[in-house]
Amino acid sequence: MTAARVILPAVLMLVFAPVDWAAEGAGHSRGQAVYQKWCAPCHAPGPDHPGTQALEAKYGGKKPGTLKERTDLTAEITKEFVRKGVSIMPFFRKTEISDAELEALAEYLAK
Ligand code: HEC
Repeated sequence: MTAARVILPAVLMLVFAPVDWAAEGAGHSRGQAVYQKWCAPCHAPGPDHPGTQALEAKYGGKKPGTLKERTDLTAEITKEFVRKGVSIMPFFRKTEISDAELEALAEYLAK
């Protein structure tokens, strides 16, 4: 039992540590890829994007309509909207956007 207590965490660290490093190094491009796939269809600039339209109307031009130009989107806000959805925006399941992908996406949009 004691051996398992020591060995199991060590094995888990070996398995997950390289994944973490990779995620951190590629965080920006990973977040960008998630954005391009799931968010850009609605939130990219231009009149044919319903998310951009809705946010321009919501803020009356006081905030940019496109998410990437926003400077007030904290990671917490992005994660909340992505998991819960709003109006015509669907919520996204973990099978669509994993927690790690959402983390990268939220970081990407927070910058
Ligand atoms: C089907 C279109 C659609 C998709 C896909 C979509 N959104 Fe949205 N999103 C909207 C609309 C429309 C709104 C505005 C709703 C409203 O009227 O408040 C919105 C609002 C938001 C808001 C709230 C901003 C604010 O200030 O109120 C955030 C944050 C957001 N979306 C992030 C995302 C992210 C991140 C993704 C990708 C994972 C995404 N959305 C995908 C349509 C979409």
